[in-house]
Amino acid sequence: DFTQEEKQFIVNLWSKIDVGQIGGEALARLLIVYPWTQRFFSSFGNLSSASAILHNPKVLAHGKKVLTSFGDAVKNLDHINETFAHLSELHCDKLHVDPENFKLLGLVLIIILALHFGKEFTPASQAAWQKLINAVAHALSLRYH
Ligand code: HEM
Repeated sequence: DFTQEEKQFIVNLWSKIDVGQIGGEALARLLIVYPWTQRFFSSFGNLSSASAILHNPKVLAHGKKVLTSFGDAVKNLDHINETFAHLSELHCDKLHVDPENFKLLGLVLIIILALHFGKEFTPASQAAWQKLINAVAHALSLRYH
């Protein structure tokens, strides 16, 4: 459960996030830093170098889609598991994404938020976001249990 204060940190930072930019950057960096994750996106075209990945329009568009969907957690902080039940089924039953990857995307996202927001990304804000990211990764992995 999130405290009122944690909710405030989450909603406040979320309102300043450009989902296209941050989402695209997060997915691209996941594919660069953890290259085995590229195998899920073999239909996305050129992933042959870091620069190709960072400029790949399909990667950027999908990153935006993923972070937009992540935003449903921000709007449903008290019902995260229910909110992602359908996506958990999709990633497990259809896409066969190993749930470890949800954690990795979360780690990358935290780094990008820190780089982007600098001092505004305070320890308290980081802790609230870490908690949110863990909750989303957990919700997405429930179907595997
Ligand atoms: C598709 C959300 C993490 C692999 C999707 C879609 C959404 C989504 C909304 C589109 C579903 C649809 O078309 O109906 C999320 C969220 C994540 C997450 C919220 C975590 C915060 C991941 C990770 C991977 C992954 C870590 C793999 C490393 C995929 C793949 C597709 C997909 C392969 C299908 C892409 C396509 O061919 O169009 N995801 N995702 N997802 N996701 Fe995720």
